[in-house]
Amino acid sequence: MTKMVIKGTGRYLPERVVTNDDLTKIMDTTDEWIQQRTGIEERRWVPEEGNVGASDLGLEASKIALSRAGWEPKDLDLIIFGTLSPDLFFPGSGCLLQSKLGLKSTPALDIRQQCTGFLYGMEIADAYIKSGYASRILLVGAEVHSTGIEMATRGRDVTVIFGDGAGAVCLEGVETDENVGVLATSLHAQGDHAEALMVEIPASRISPTRVTHEHLDEGRQWPKMDGRNIFKLAVKRLPEVSQTVLDKAGLTIDDIDMVIPHQANLRINQFFQKSMNIPDEKIFNNIQKYGNTTAGTIPIALDEVIEQKLIPEEKSTLLFAGLGAGVTWGAMIFRFM
Ligand code: UT7
Repeated sequence: MTKMVIKGTGRYLPERVVTNDDLTKIMDTTDEWIQQRTGIEERRWVPEEGNVGASDLGLEASKIALSRAGWEPKDLDLIIFGTLSPDLFFPGSGCLLQSKLGLKSTPALDIRQQCTGFLYGMEIADAYIKSGYASRILLVGAEVHSTGIEMATRGRDVTVIFGDGAGAVCLEGVETDENVGVLATSLHAQGDHAEALMVEIPASRISPTRVTHEHLDEGRQWPKMDGRNIFKLAVKRLPEVSQTVLDKAGLTIDDIDMVIPHQANLRINQFFQKSMNIPDEKIFNNIQKYGNTTAGTIPIALDEVIEQKLIPEEKSTLLFAGLGAGVTWGAMIFRFM
């Protein structure tokens, strides 16, 4: 049977470190508030000048993943790009990345799944590989939030949590009867909560023009979040969907070598850890250093877990889980070859 394996991973975080104290200079917040409520100590932002977009961060992460896989860009059958902060309103960042990789006709697909971009992307890649459509896929999760958040007290709930960064994985179909690759997935969306976390404009639903000076004056171009609602949904859905994939795979949490949750808030992940009885050494968090890089969080964390040799080199079993804008949520169990 065809199984999807990870051949290489990469990450790229911009060099500019922004501490909580730095944020206190531009809005009414404190290091203490941010650390207590979110666990975040610092995040990375792209340089103030240079027009660095999500595809640029994605390119750097992709180059590392491709070199670890031993692949050239021309070996790719498909690029899947997860982002909520695309370089352009359209076309998608996947097309821009494809060009930056020097490719001329390789298909490129953007997905708008926000915090679950990596989970949805893995499931799409697995389906493409199992259908025989593609055998080598580059999956990227990349965000440049810093140019799209409000640098003022009004937007502080969102601004303090988001960071810029990218992760990439090279995925390949292999023929094997071993129980490896995607062992179980459960993906969900509930559009009733779409406006609990959104950037509204430019919006095709607004007539007669999707963006006006009045909209900008009202601040409708900045992210708006009902943080408490999203928090409550996350602490309910993450254990629930993780248990679903464990049951589907016929495993228990003891069979998992490492849990890599989306990095939205350290407190959410602590609730999740407690309710699933996950020992400290089997859950990975790096939100303290990077904030919430949305589609980037899981592939960035995966790359660090591998680099720090926190999982066995062979046959390690990972649980990924996340919830975010949409709302979308999901979990996946993945076993390495
Ligand atoms: O990955 C995308 C999915 N997103 C999430 O999962 C985020 C989920 N939500 C959260 O992480 C939390 O709700 C936040 C970190 C965003 C906010 O924490 P909270 O404990 O839910 O705070 P809150 O929104 O209930 O606000 C409490 C107080 C408010 O002041 P008052 O009304 O009590 O006077 C806020 O105005 O904290 C205030 N506040 C801040 N104070 C200092 C909100 N943001 C800040 C800030 N600094 N940055």
